[in-house]
Parts: sequence; C-alpha cells; structure tokens
Amino acid sequence: MKNPNPFLKKIISRKNTAKILNDMSARLNIRILITDAGDNIIADIGRDGEFGNSSNSMVIYPINAGGDEQIGFVKGNEGCSLVASIIDCVAEIESDKRDLTSELLSKYREINLFYDFAENINIRKDFNDMAMLTSTQISELLNADSILIILKNENTGLLEVVFKFGADAAKYAPLKPEDAIIPERVILSGRAEIVNDLSTDVELARILPRRTGSVLCAPLRIQNRVTGAIYLIKENPIAYTSENLKLLMVFSSQVAAFIENGKLLQNLQETFISTVYTLAETIEMRDNYTGDHTRRVMDYSLAIGGNLGISGEELETLKLSSILHDIGKIGISDSVLLKPGKLTDEEFEIIKSHTLLGEKILKNIKQLNHIIPGVKYHHERYDGKGYPEGLGGGDIDLMAKIIAVADTFDAMTTDRPYRKGLSYDAAFSELKKCSGTQFDPAIVDAFIEAFPDIKEK
Ligand SMILES: [Fe+2]
Repeated sequence: MKNPNPFLKKIISRKNTAKILNDMSARLNIRILITDAGDNIIADIGRDGEFGNSSNSMVIYPINAGGDEQIGFVKGNEGCSLVASIIDCVAEIESDKRDLTSELLSKYREINLFYDFAENINIRKDFNDMAMLTSTQISELLNADSILIILKNENTGLLEVVFKFGADAAKYAPLKPEDAIIPERVILSGRAEIVNDLSTDVELARILPRRTGSVLCAPLRIQNRVTGAIYLIKENPIAYTSENLKLLMVFSSQVAAFIENGKLLQNLQETFISTVYTLAETIEMRDNYTGDHTRRVMDYSLAIGGNLGISGEELETLKLSSILHDIGKIGISDSVLLKPGKLTDEEFEIIKSHTLLGEKILKNIKQLNHIIPGVKYHHERYDGKGYPEGLGGGDIDLMAKIIAVADTFDAMTTDRPYRKGLSYDAAFSELKKCSGTQFDPAIVDAFIEAFPDIKEK
C-alpha cells in the first residue's frame, strides 16, 4: 500500500477539521471513513458506530477539491454527504491557497530574475554579452530550446539571425523560409505572437504541414520602427500563455533599447570621427602634402595595429591618434611650415614644437586626452635621438611608435611639389635600414607583413 495522499491527510489532521468531524460523528451518531483515491485510510471516526441505521447502507461520496480529479472519498451513511461537502470545501480553499502560493513564488522568482537582468543589462557594453544574458534569462523563465535574435537587413530586406542560443539553435541560422514566416509576420504587424501548435499555423502549414512545436515571438522596436524580433522555439509543443508572451515582450523592449543606444552611440562616434577628420584635413591642406596624407597614415597605422593584435578601444585610440598626430601644426606659422628651402636650426625647432603644441591643444579636450601620448611622441626615435623628450625603445608609447612608421613611410612615398616620392620597394628598404635605430623593429616587421593588405585597398 502506498503512502496516503499527503494533501488530504494534512487537511483532515488539522485541529479544526478533526474537531468538526468528531462533533458531527457524535451528534449524528455515524461512522465517517475517509480514504484517499488509492483507498488508503486517512481517518476512521466513530469507529464503534455503524454505517447508518442498517449496516448495508454505506454510501461513498467523492472529494474533488474543486477540480475534476477525485483526491479521496468519504464513506458512511447518507449523513456523510454533509461531511463530504465540508471536506470538499476545505480542500478547495486549501488547494486554491496552494496554487496561489506557487504562483506567488513563481512571480517572485520572475521578478527577482528580471531585477537581476535589468541591473546587469545596463553594464553590458558588448551586444553578444547582452544577448547571452538575455537569452539565459529567457530560457530559464520560459523553458525554451532555442532563442534567436533576428534583425531585418535594411539593404536586402532579409531577416538575419544576429544571435542564437540553445544546443540546437544553429539549425535556424541562416533562417529557412519556413522558419522566417512567424518573425516576418511579427515584424510586419508589430504584434507579438504565441503559436502553441505550429501544425495549426495556416501560413506555415502551406510550406511545411507537419512542423510541430510551440513558439513565442516578440517585436524589436528600434528607433520607432520594428526592425527585428526575438524568436523563442520549443521543439515539443507546450502551452505558452499570454503571461509568458508579456514576459518575452519585456525582454524584447530591453534588447531593443540596448540596440538603439548602441546605434545612437555609433552615430555620435561617427559624427565625432568625421569632425576630427575634417579638422585633420584642414591642417593637412596647410602642409606640403598633395592630399589624403591623413587617410593613408590612418590606414597604415590601423593595418600595423591589426597585425599586432590591437583591437577594440585601443584600436579606436590608434585611429584618432593617427588622424590627429599633426594637430599641433595649427600653431606653426605658414612662413615656417610652408618654407620651400632648407630650414634654419631655429625654424626646425619651431617645426619640432608641433608635438608639444598638439599636447597643449588636446589637454583642453577631455574626450581626446587619451590620444595625447600618440600625438606627442610620434617623432621620438627607437634609439632615443628623437623629439620632444628623447625617449627610447620601450619608453615610447606604442601608438606613437606605430604612427612614426606610418607617417614616415607616407612622407617617403608621396610626391611633393619639389621632389618625387620613393617607390614602395625603396621605402621598404629605407624602413628596414632604420629598423632598430629610428624605428622599433617589431613595428617595421608588422608593417611589412601587413602591407599586402594595404596595397589592395
Ligand atoms: Fe608630425
């Protein structure tokens, strides 16, 4: 015999319930036998009494606790119907209480998880990092097999999976036509959808009649337009509710806000770079270059940086430093800067001061403070014979050492009004000759290695 139903046992053994049952048994002079659905005896009250006036009149009353399932029985004479009703009622209240508690606990868990999520998403800088956090939380709360973050490509109009989560999620990227139907519909209408049985989806059934499973899909509204969706897939059908969909929508709004902020930041950075670039070109126009010097120094510097494994924020620093390396020339007069003939020692000292002038200008712009070393030291030499401080080898800022190679190479290979530029091969030989004296050998090597890529640009 199995253990008696613990829920029914708990209700019957309560002090109040037990008192009522004992009172009723005594007053009505009846025996009350309570069993669970497996016929385990939970209580046998009024043991000495009979089952009614005649011993063969035992009646069985089911206990349903408000649901369809019978959790037990009250056995006795007709008087026991009242007992059965009371137990039914108490069990129903208890069952509701239990459901409510479990619902409250699950809500509490949801709120807790969501609070953690909201707190954490703001400190994520990287999209993949944010997408991983979001998908982990969604998967935990909504029991998903695969989660896809989908964006509509603005140029091709096609849906692209930009992030996938789950052991089998790889099979959904790239999206097959049948898997794109629901996200496409959600993006077009802007309304989230639940499909608990994919075989009933009319549109999908036209392409793939036997596709099973359940899905939830919520739109990603970015800059007031729906340009993507979060798509959650459960391979075996499950009964998702509108509450589940609402939860997914909360996540999708957070993801959309993250992407939107990223785009705004990117626009801001692009505007900033283009302003800085225009400034650098203005300086370049005052120099003797025939154009595009800034662009080439930047390209060469980034190629060297890439070859050395520099990435992320450091590469951005290199980009800005290389664009603005000669910003100090703003403060050099035309008579010196544009002098065609040989410079006097005094004039050369003035030209050299552009490194310190650059530092002075950038010190006043908080957002550009980090590029000062690259700008200030781009005329230092590896052997310590450069300017403005005569630093050597490892004491020179890495950005500055990279810009030094890129700047010199471009200066050597560019035509000037008074002379023709060197060929690439001749300039390479020059770089190699000066490797270890003027330039850091590691940077020269990285440049030569990276150069085939540059030539293709
Ligand atoms: Fe310079």
